[in-house]
Amino acid sequence: MNRVDFTHNTEAVNAIAAHYDSPPMAFVHSYGCQQNVNDGEKIKGVLVDAGYGLCDKFEDADLILFNTCAVREHAEERVFGNVGALKQLKAKNPNLIIGICGCMTQQEGVVERLRKSYPFVDLVFGVNGIDTLPQLLAEKMGAGKRLLKTPTERYDVVEQMPIQRDSTFRAWLPIMYGCDNFCSYCIVPYVRGRERSRKSEDILHEFRQLISAGYKEITLLGQNVNSYGKGLEESLDFADLLEKLCQEEGDFHIRFMTSHPKDATKKLIDTIAKYPQICNHLHLPVQSGSNRVLKEMNRHYTVEQYLDLIDYAKQKVDGITFSSDIIIGFPGETEEEFEQTLELIQKVEYMQLFTFIYSKRNGTRAAEMPDPITRKEKTDRMGRLLKAQEEIASRLAKGMVGKTCRVLVEGHSRQEGTLTGRLNNNLVVEFKADPALIGSYADVIIEDARVTMLKGSLIK
Ligand code: 5AD
Ligand code: SF4
Repeated sequence: MNRVDFTHNTEAVNAIAAHYDSPPMAFVHSYGCQQNVNDGEKIKGVLVDAGYGLCDKFEDADLILFNTCAVREHAEERVFGNVGALKQLKAKNPNLIIGICGCMTQQEGVVERLRKSYPFVDLVFGVNGIDTLPQLLAEKMGAGKRLLKTPTERYDVVEQMPIQRDSTFRAWLPIMYGCDNFCSYCIVPYVRGRERSRKSEDILHEFRQLISAGYKEITLLGQNVNSYGKGLEESLDFADLLEKLCQEEGDFHIRFMTSHPKDATKKLIDTIAKYPQICNHLHLPVQSGSNRVLKEMNRHYTVEQYLDLIDYAKQKVDGITFSSDIIIGFPGETEEEFEQTLELIQKVEYMQLFTFIYSKRNGTRAAEMPDPITRKEKTDRMGRLLKAQEEIASRLAKGMVGKTCRVLVEGHSRQEGTLTGRLNNNLVVEFKADPALIGSYADVIIEDARVTMLKGSLIK
């Protein structure tokens, strides 16, 4: 890992300014996971640093950037659809620059497809080119032709990046980049490269900046936060990092994602139990309830080991809730194996599940596996899983009725005059209150529960 600081490239910024008659506007849209959303915030930061204003409508933009996700085929096709729709815009305004970046563009085939079939796309760069964006733009403008970078891997960790955060009270804080796990279905290790942890002093520095800027909720991000620290000169693991952050003064709370069950430790659970600042919610993606499928997925844990950790967390952390990712229809998943997943969710009692139908990703090991299960069978299984989950979540949410909880007020709910607040355990409650409360803490009594949405009243 090579740590570098972001540097403002004056020459490139001057070249960009010279290209426009008035200050240019940029529209940036990020797809996919929180890591990507955080990258999008950095892209916006770098663009503002380079003299761009930001706009919410792509019709107003001089530069449109799509920061893409590659985790499932559906996400990719949506991007191609949305990019295709920009063709008209470019015909009307030939000065418009259209750029595509992020996980999709780390794949050779995608860059080729953009090159051949999307001639109105001007700029393509990968996940690790954000700090060099002004230079890329200047280069594109100077050359007057398309600049489509072929995917490369880069091991640098870039610190001190300018950032335009989407929220003033909830922040993403990456602690590591990349993934070394090579789960057999997953494209992420191929597109985001090898695991690199940030130094704890850099994380602490950003954390302190966030607290002093008034941020209340800080979510630590990594593809597998539990392998934090590997390869660093200092000797610390994820639980040690949490411990360090909890020594900081201030009124804040910490969430984190994602935890890989193979690396989640009892020490981590003990740390969650020890500090009230760490939310009592654990996102621990199990993916499947079948040991055979888990082995084929290259997950390196068994259902028994997973349940052992869940039981330990239930014992140690008062009121802890769990959420998980589950893949339905992994190649060769039998009816019995699917039923084992149903059994597992009953044992754990997740508050929330993120369920995905298996999507074949070229270049991964699972893409080579025979997949005889029909689409219909997979969607049937998905329906059964969702129904079972709804009952579990409803039951758990009902158990919250009558409790008084401290929530972080997040915003307006769909119902007029009503706000939403997030509980420590990640449930959301709706209640009537003054919008001036958005971004601060409030005490709410839970009065009703519908599936996972709670209703309550503000305690004055
Ligand atoms: N197909 C379906 N779901 C996938 N995920 C990752 N790769 C795939 C794939 N090829 C899901 C996993 C992971 C989540 C972020 O996305 O459940 O935890
Ligand atoms: Fe993909 Fe597995 Fe890495 Fe998660 S841990 S990003 S599922 S390879």
